[in-house]
Amino acid sequence: MDYRELIRPRMSEYRFVHSCAVAERAKHLALRWKADPEKAFIAGMVHDICKDISKEEQLKCITENGIIPDDVLLSNPSLWHSLAGSLFLPSVGIDDLEILSAVRYHTSARADMTLLEEIIYMADLTSADRVYKDVDYVRQLCERSLHAATFYALRYIVGDLAHQNRPISKDTWEAYNFYLQITKDQK
Ligand SMILES: [Fe+2]
Ligand SMILES: [Fe+2]
Repeated sequence: MDYRELIRPRMSEYRFVHSCAVAERAKHLALRWKADPEKAFIAGMVHDICKDISKEEQLKCITENGIIPDDVLLSNPSLWHSLAGSLFLPSVGIDDLEILSAVRYHTSARADMTLLEEIIYMADLTSADRVYKDVDYVRQLCERSLHAATFYALRYIVGDLAHQNRPISKDTWEAYNFYLQITKDQK
């Protein structure tokens, strides 16, 4: 399957460049942490496949697949594209469960993520197109410990959401607690 051709018509040029960068980064992290580089590349390419469709379409995709959104999901539209993406992908022939769960949790994260889920979560935050202040530090952290990098990212994201008076999903909150504990235990 040509993944570039699959995603290109479904997103902006900006998102397309980002998706290709996440795929490359995911492949790199998979090689570093002994995951499947091909699966990581595919998951990276398709992780934002529903991000540039309208919020209404994202929500429709979720409810049409039998999921009843709870209040936190409804008040957190930035999470919709991940869930919608994981539900949409089987219709275009991508039904590998590891890839689907990596797409599903790439925005919220969750406690005790699979290796591929962690790789896509961190690849999305450390791809070549990302330019935030300490991105190079986070990239280096990914080389040393994927768990530590995941916790670092979650600590920032949870703090940022709280600072903006935005709701924090159960998955994100549980992820924060889980990675706080395991990175403590590793010290
Ligand atoms: Fe995303
Ligand atoms: Fe992304």
